[in-house]
Amino acid sequence: HIPVITIDGPTASGKGTVSHLVAEKLGFHYLDSGALYRLTALSALRKGTDLHDEHALAKLARDLPVSFKGEHIFLGADDVSAAIRAEEVGNSASKIAALPAVRQALYGLQLDFRKAPGLVADGRDMGTVIFPNAPLKVFLTASVEARADRRYKQLIGKGFSANMDDLLKDLRERDERDANRKIAPLKPAEGAYVLDTSNMTVDEAVAQVLGWYAA
Ligand code: CDP
Repeated sequence: HIPVITIDGPTASGKGTVSHLVAEKLGFHYLDSGALYRLTALSALRKGTDLHDEHALAKLARDLPVSFKGEHIFLGADDVSAAIRAEEVGNSASKIAALPAVRQALYGLQLDFRKAPGLVADGRDMGTVIFPNAPLKVFLTASVEARADRRYKQLIGKGFSANMDDLLKDLRERDERDANRKIAPLKPAEGAYVLDTSNMTVDEAVAQVLGWYAA
């Protein structure tokens, strides 16, 4: 039996950083499910696929030539680790993530990440849809302002340009789309611990998750 910790939450809630560190502390594998939606979006943008063409997008998702090497993500031979973090790619990812056939196409790929000794799965529907039987489910959240601030620093740190007003607007739109879509809407899974990290450091959040896991 391979344990899974699911960490779901809204955009820029710090899930990625926290999930990564929890996985590292426990020696577990890490699934960045958002990266799979971003990869599909990037592929579509590069190929000029219509972002409303559900069938074509699902095919792209099913056939993604993706590989993970340490911290790096490849599409074919191309290292796209930086490219998938662009705001345009995130916005497109959030649009295509509302399409059932795209979610279905990525389902099996996500299950395959469950390997010994364990997995930390980061996303929107890890606890509600993909790993509903996970022994620990966390819903990580933070105020819109705290999240916009984090996203701003993250983008600037990666060498992208960013504007606070645009980010706040994007963030609110993305929250709205993630929460109101018909399929796998963002909400805490049954039995999830809700953690508001607005006034917490990363280390505090990591310690809380590890504490719940140990309990
Ligand atoms: O944090 P941010 O929203 O920028 O991005 P992400 O976690 O990398 O995910 C990109 C987009 O994929 C999100 O806006 C979600 O709409 C979608 N997503 C999803 O629907 N289900 C998941 N399990 C993960 C991401």
